[in-house]
Amino acid sequence: MVIEIRNVQTLDGKKITHAIESKKSQIIEAEGLTMLPALIDPHVHFRVPGAEHKETWETGSKAAIAGGVTTVCDMPNNFPSTSTLERLEAKEKKIQEQLQQSGIPLRYRLYLGANSNHFQEIGKTKQSIAGLKIYMGSSTGDLLLCDLPSLEEAFRIAAQEGVLVAVHAEDEHLIQLNRSKHVERTDAAVHSVIRSPEAAAKSVALAIALAKKHGARLYIVHVSSKEELQLIRAAKREGCTVYAEVAPHHLFMDENAYRSLGTQALVNPPLREKSNCEALWEAISDGTIDTIGTDHAPHTLEEKRRPFGAAPSGFPSIELYLSLLLNAYHEKKISLEQIVSLTHTRPREIFGFPVHSDVVLVDLSKTKQIDDARLHTKAKWSPYTGRILQGWPRYTILDGTVFDLELL
Ligand code: DOR
Ligand code: ZN
Repeated sequence: MVIEIRNVQTLDGKKITHAIESKKSQIIEAEGLTMLPALIDPHVHFRVPGAEHKETWETGSKAAIAGGVTTVCDMPNNFPSTSTLERLEAKEKKIQEQLQQSGIPLRYRLYLGANSNHFQEIGKTKQSIAGLKIYMGSSTGDLLLCDLPSLEEAFRIAAQEGVLVAVHAEDEHLIQLNRSKHVERTDAAVHSVIRSPEAAAKSVALAIALAKKHGARLYIVHVSSKEELQLIRAAKREGCTVYAEVAPHHLFMDENAYRSLGTQALVNPPLREKSNCEALWEAISDGTIDTIGTDHAPHTLEEKRRPFGAAPSGFPSIELYLSLLLNAYHEKKISLEQIVSLTHTRPREIFGFPVHSDVVLVDLSKTKQIDDARLHTKAKWSPYTGRILQGWPRYTILDGTVFDLELL
């Protein structure tokens, strides 16, 4: 049996009927819709275990499907952090139960968190994990690896075991130093001063040096500044296996957001001065950026509105980034082919996901305002609320099951 997608537009401008194997026959009249491969989001925080009041895989998988995403890589900064095989297996069990509840068999892979007491776990988990996530600077959760001997050891073992090293690159020592210089400030904007571009670049430089020395494959998550891009370009030119991810908020938001959103605009690494957004768009154009990872990091509104120092960092975004990108396509900032490469092809290649039939059918002409009440994330808010975007997903097809997004 097949799902027959009739009269759908393909990227090369043809109108075709496309068939996908399924357990039940179904016809989708797709006149006016464009077919893209379903998205792979290599960077999400679905908060299980330990912070299920912010998100679960039941709500997270719905938000993913609503955004055209059928595969995610989930981060290990849980409570407790996912830094051993035992914890990975316990987490996996909860995820399975929650996906069962949602009725969405989302494809996923989990990161192992780097912890110097647990380096033996890298070899034990290498077959199943997305990679080893190293927090070189502190963020949500207690994962942190910032002393040189531990970093050397982590890169050495990961390289030896053939495990991808993903780094949150912000130099912890520089962050602490900057914080000590600005203790009197309580406004949210100081966050971008404390977690400076220099702190990010210093950490990226170290990660690249360690990757080169030990022969590790390096994946730099949420690149946010010009300074980092320069280092990554140079490393790529030298033939170093380094991949760069950008998060939507560093493309679509800048420091000005503190004025309207206050502590709600906090994220690590922080929003930057606008010229960095422009540099990131350029880096998409010239191929320096490999992937878009949402860094979907839901926190409740109540938590986000706490005073600076108590409010957590991060935004929910998984169900909106495709629309943000499609809207950017209309603004001639990016091509549809580039969107596919960043959200599907490159993540599939880098993380070694198998080829499958998942697609998302998008309505490029549909214009809609973002409305918190319609979001599926448990957090039920977005830093993009109120924006009017052109280009919205209409159907997501995962493993032969059609999700009509108007009925989700
Ligand atoms: O802003 C962030 N939020 N950055 C991170 O590194 C972690 C994330 C979270 O888990 O809340
Ligand atoms: Zn993250």
